[in-house]
Amino acid sequence: MSEQLKNAFADLLDARRSVRGFKSKRVPQAILDNVFEFARRAPSNCNTQPWQVAVASGEACERLRQSFPDAIAEGKFDMDFDYSGQYEGVYKERQHDAAAQLYSAQGIAREDKQRRNDVFMDNFKFFGAPHVAFLFLPEPFGIREAVDVGMFAQNLMLSLCAHGLASCPQTALSFDATTVRKELDIDAKNKLLFGISFGYEDHDHPANKCRVGRADLSQNIHFIE
Ligand SMILES: Cc1cc2nc3c(=O)[nH]c(=O)nc-3n(C[C@H](O)[C@H](O)[C@H](O)COP(=O)(O)O)c2cc1C
Repeated sequence: MSEQLKNAFADLLDARRSVRGFKSKRVPQAILDNVFEFARRAPSNCNTQPWQVAVASGEACERLRQSFPDAIAEGKFDMDFDYSGQYEGVYKERQHDAAAQLYSAQGIAREDKQRRNDVFMDNFKFFGAPHVAFLFLPEPFGIREAVDVGMFAQNLMLSLCAHGLASCPQTALSFDATTVRKELDIDAKNKLLFGISFGYEDHDHPANKCRVGRADLSQNIHFIE
C-alpha cells in the first residue's frame, strides 16, 4: 500500500505544473465541490483554516476578464501585501531562467518586448480559464496564517490535478485588490494574497510546453546531525 501511495503521489506531483492556456469549457459544479472538499483538508495553525476563497465563474469571471487588463494597462496598482518582484542572486537567476523557458516555449525572443508584454497581460485574462479562485487572508491575520493559505493553495492545485484539471497560481491577480473585492462583493477586511486560474488544459497552447525544473536538493535542504 505505501509503495502504491508513494507512486501515486509522485505521479500527482509530476502532473501538476503551472498551465497558461485553458479551454473555455466550464467545470461542472459537482466536480468543483469535490475539488474544494479535498483542498480544505489542508493543515493550519490551531486548525483556524484562515483561508477565504472566492471562486469566480461565468459572468463574474467574464466581468473581471474585461476590466482587469484595462486597469493594469492604465497603471492601476493596488496590492494588499508588498511585492517588488525584484530578486537578487540565485533567486534572480531562477526567476530569469523560468521566464526564459516560458518565452522560448512560445517562440518569443528575449528582445521582443511587445510579445513579452502580451504574455504578461494574459495573466489578467486568466489565460482563458473559465474559473478563477481568489485567496484572501482575513484581518487581523499575518504571515503565519498566510502560510496556511499557501498550504490550502497547494492542496487545491493538487486536488485539481487529481480531477484531471489544470491551474496557474498568480500573484499578478493580486495587483488590483480593490477592483477584485468590488467586482466580487468581498468585505474589505479580506486581504488578497493571490489568485489561481483553473479549468481544462488547452494541450495545444505553446505556453504549456514549458516545464521548469528545480534546484538540486543540496542547494536549499540541509540535513544536520
Ligand atoms: C504564489 C505564486 C504566485 C505565482 N504568480 C505567478 C504569476 O503571477 N504569473 C505566472 O504566470 N506564474 C506565476 N506563478 C507560477 C510560477 O512561475 C511557477 O510555479 C514556477 O515557475 C514553477 O513552475 P511550475 O508551477 O510549472 O512547477 C506563481 C506561483 C506561485 C506559487
